[in-house]
Amino acid sequence: MNKVSKFFKAFRLIIKQPSLLNLILKDEDVLKRSFIKEFGQQQLRQIDVFASLEASPLKITPYAFLSGSSMVTDFALLQILCLQNSVESYFEIGTWRGESAANVAPYVQQVFTLNLPDVVLQQMGMNQDYIASHRFFSQKLNNVSHLFGDSASFDFSPYHQKCDLIFIDGDHSTAAVERDTRTALLLRKSEQSILVWHDAKSDAEYPRYEVLLGIYRALPEELHKNVYLVKHSLCAVYLPQGAPSSTIQMNALPNRLFEIAVTSKAL
Ligand SMILES: C[S@@+](CC[C@H](N)C(=O)[O-])C[C@H]1O[C@@H](n2cnc3c(N)ncnc32)[C@H](O)[C@@H]1O
Repeated sequence: MNKVSKFFKAFRLIIKQPSLLNLILKDEDVLKRSFIKEFGQQQLRQIDVFASLEASPLKITPYAFLSGSSMVTDFALLQILCLQNSVESYFEIGTWRGESAANVAPYVQQVFTLNLPDVVLQQMGMNQDYIASHRFFSQKLNNVSHLFGDSASFDFSPYHQKCDLIFIDGDHSTAAVERDTRTALLLRKSEQSILVWHDAKSDAEYPRYEVLLGIYRALPEELHKNVYLVKHSLCAVYLPQGAPSSTIQMNALPNRLFEIAVTSKAL
């Protein structure tokens, strides 16, 4: 099919189903161009936090190995940051199965985790099993407080200036990440508090501009230099004290070898 035929076919489809326009607007190449136009490509730098595992291995548990599970290294990152920075109060947006909350809980005094209420998930037409899986791993943990609401309208004021680390893992659209990041700035206990975003990368190497645009739009420009993609994970992190970093590199030769001893038990 030539370009003109393709154009008219696409045009007809969009007229029939206007929501198809979202596919263009959310296309990563389109978003990457917007990001570079607004912030410049050189902004993106990466850090390797996993050198610390050479001295002190960590146990990632629970791990569901199910659809949508974060990477093992995402939970390791959260544990490392909590340990190295003596995090007492951890706040996350996006509970789902409670996997991230449960992985962090042994390392902090208090976990606050916010999710849309089950009834809202029902109204959104979500599958019953998906709804039932919410809080599966975290609901019985003593130091985990489950909060319910939409991060767009939830009253965060009781948690303002209380949190050492804020993990943003709810709605990953640019607008929602921008909003949740502005909220996270208010939750910081001090300027030393850390922010982590999940799904700021589409895989262990490639950036995800849909999320990165939200992060960079929300943060004051002077903080941009301390935002890093985390090598081997899907996360980006804001480290107020900075860290040794390098430019991002796609399809890099491996420079680190992970060893994972896999065990499992039936529930
Ligand atoms: C990717 S999952 C979180 C995974 C979890 N952090 C983990 O790693 O185990 C995202 C969750 O955010 C919730 N969510 C989406 N939009 C939200 C919003 N606006 N406010 C609160 N929760 C939201 C969804 O219901 C879903 O359970």
